[in-house]
Amino acid sequence: MSDLIHIELSQRVLTLRFNRPDKKNAITRAMYTTLAEALTTATDDARTRAVLFVGAGDAFTSGNDLQDFLQAPPQPDEDAPVARFMRTLADFPKPALAAIRGSAIGIGTTLLLHCDLIYAGRSARLQMPFVNLGICPEFASSLLLPRIMGHARAAELLLLGEPFAAEQARDYGLVNAVLDDDAVEAHALAQARKLAAKAPNAVRVTKTLLRHWQREQVFAAIGREAEHFLPMLRQPEATEALTAFMQKRAADFSRFE
Ligand code: COA
Repeated sequence: MSDLIHIELSQRVLTLRFNRPDKKNAITRAMYTTLAEALTTATDDARTRAVLFVGAGDAFTSGNDLQDFLQAPPQPDEDAPVARFMRTLADFPKPALAAIRGSAIGIGTTLLLHCDLIYAGRSARLQMPFVNLGICPEFASSLLLPRIMGHARAAELLLLGEPFAAEQARDYGLVNAVLDDDAVEAHALAQARKLAAKAPNAVRVTKTLLRHWQREQVFAAIGREAEHFLPMLRQPEATEALTAFMQKRAADFSRFE
């Protein structure tokens, strides 16, 4: 188990905290493994009635560890730690909530699409910079993002890959509410506790019904995206982008066709 994910169960709410603040909570393979195991256990554990994702320090998460992407990219395998985590989250039968402050980048935004209630601090900056990294959307973001906000908005966010603020995320229907940074986690926890006090089967059935009608499409999209994403990670456009990040310079795509 990675101590870079802090796990706390209190009043039937399981809080999963990205706990790597010196790297803006970038997620490594070991962290994905811990997250997948925690969610798998929580699925059948009656002590957990809701799950809350939060970040330590001033970020939610800066997404997949880019060093890992460069040196140990995920294998095309449903058992890869990131795939286990995201597939378990996509099928998680209990409410999943998130409280975000600061950066929520890449999979840090993608995982929100699989959560039920999302609260953002005013400092939140979301971003889906896949194209900037020479890669493409994954884990059904190419399906869920346009479904949530419409094609025009989703295309702008996914093709330009620029950061967007908490208020824009709320206006686009991606987050429930924007709060002051120092209030956002407590508010999300209070909402999670409200859910945890309700009739558990009624909550589970309602959540499952809300998502059931698109479940097959979500898993089909995850597979379709992975067919592109995983080979793209190993191609020269991504190598240039990831190397540029490590070298703290702008990527130069001018030589590519
Ligand atoms: N993977 C690995 N390391 C990361 C990281 C990531 N996704 N995000 C941040 N870090 C590291 C930085 O390399 C830096 O490490 P260092 O102190 O050893 O140099 C440290 O975290 C702090 O990041 P820094 O860039 O100095 O902070 P910032 O406040 O200027 O910017 C971000 C923060 C998150 C906006 C910026 O780091 C960033 O854009 N990260 C990449 C996000 C990304 O593309 N994620 C993948 C999406 S698929």
